[in-house]
Amino acid sequence: MFKKLNILDEKEKALRTKCDLVTEDLNEKEKELIKRGLKELRLSQIDKMAEKYSLRPGMGLAFPQLGILKRVIMICHEEEPGKFKDYVLINPKIVSNSSEIIAAEAGEGCLSVNREVEGHVPRYARVTIEGLDIDRNPVKIRAREELSIAFQHEIDHLDGILFYDRIDPKKKFYQEGEIRLI
Ligand code: NI
Repeated sequence: MFKKLNILDEKEKALRTKCDLVTEDLNEKEKELIKRGLKELRLSQIDKMAEKYSLRPGMGLAFPQLGILKRVIMICHEEEPGKFKDYVLINPKIVSNSSEIIAAEAGEGCLSVNREVEGHVPRYARVTIEGLDIDRNPVKIRAREELSIAFQHEIDHLDGILFYDRIDPKKKFYQEGEIRLI
């Protein structure tokens, strides 16, 4: 039986809070939420399932979206059609980034933002992230293109930043050549 998560709306204070570093093991309830979150993200990216369960497609979630003010993110990335890879990161930190800037041509969305927000969100084309996995082993991930955008979007959530904060109101859209649109 699949039960949808309760994802908080952008109006909730949790979405604007800087989250705390995680210093202890996650508890069972938190681990269960991660499991459910990754499953929901995966289903949301499969058209038939998204329709069946009325899921808005999403690639990632951060703990504050579930009402937990801890630095934990999860991403389900479709690497190839039908092939998904899950990432869970505790205390994720961008330790290096490309100088090249990209943006999702269609703009970004967020499971906490239940409306359309137009505009390009400038992001690093490539980032290296360090953090801990679910068992607190150190991990280092190199992400590029849409996965890089997803990590930056989710890490922003841990600092109370929403994607549209990064849209320049004086320049909402870029041309090809100014930054690379993907
Ligand atoms: Ni989001």
